[in-house]
Amino acid sequence: MCIAVIVVDRDCTGLCQMIQSKLPDVLIQQWPHITQPELVEFAVLWQHPEGITAQFPNLKAVTSLGAGTNHLDHDKALEGLPQLRVVTDSLKQLMAQYVLLYLLSDSRHQLGYNTQQHQKKWHVLENEVIPTVGFVGLGALGGFVADRCSDLGFKTVAWTVQSEHPNHTCYHGKSGLKKVIEQSDYVVVLLPLKPETRHIIDATTLSWFKQEAVLINVARGAHVDELALCSALQKNQLKHAVLDVFETEPLPKESPLWGLDNVTITPHVSALSDAHQTASMVVDLFNQYVFGNTKT
Ligand code: GLV
Repeated sequence: MCIAVIVVDRDCTGLCQMIQSKLPDVLIQQWPHITQPELVEFAVLWQHPEGITAQFPNLKAVTSLGAGTNHLDHDKALEGLPQLRVVTDSLKQLMAQYVLLYLLSDSRHQLGYNTQQHQKKWHVLENEVIPTVGFVGLGALGGFVADRCSDLGFKTVAWTVQSEHPNHTCYHGKSGLKKVIEQSDYVVVLLPLKPETRHIIDATTLSWFKQEAVLINVARGAHVDELALCSALQKNQLKHAVLDVFETEPLPKESPLWGLDNVTITPHVSALSDAHQTASMVVDLFNQYVFGNTKT
């Protein structure tokens, strides 16, 4: 019995040790040292090399290491298998911290007061307008972040495919997306990448932004048409874009996004997985999908 941990962009030795300590009788094989592929029944995957899962004839289920599962979509060997994901409390909390960091620093004029301080200037920048935060996507992560925004007194609206939410008004369809964007001071993109959500932020949807609005993309780079965004930012169609994810990562040096003053770039760090919580969740999923137990 074996779990393969195939995560290519970081060292997962700590995570593997934690899983091992909870499952002492299970073999944990960590990429690139998968020496007994025929034993693998469960795999933890993140940007896994193409074709690797086809070498596991006894695979029963896989999980993404994180919230996003788009890296599993193109793997034909996974068709028909349960494809799970790990959304831990810490992932939700870190995501809320990231979004709130940029939201609050803008809405509470952090940059403006900083400039004024250097000028020894005493001038109130606050106003009484309550900003509206529009969520494009309101799943496990989006819903959590939206709740934290409401807790802090922001107005919230959301675009979802069809689901409703007890705390946030939801709109659907293309006209619903327009309603959300048009009334939002902050547009937070936090939804799964699917063929139908690719470039959901494009030249058309960017034309619906308020000129003072800020876009925050913490989902996947391909949700945003980067060339259309560059052009909209150059024309000041929106005020600023905070981008943690990009169509190509790392963001290529030649990307025009680097040269824009009204863009904040971070290297896909909004919510990194916590090894302890991830290990517990992987063990729960393994027990459930390989043993059929819901308890460890
Ligand atoms: C991070 O991008 C995740 O999908 O968890």
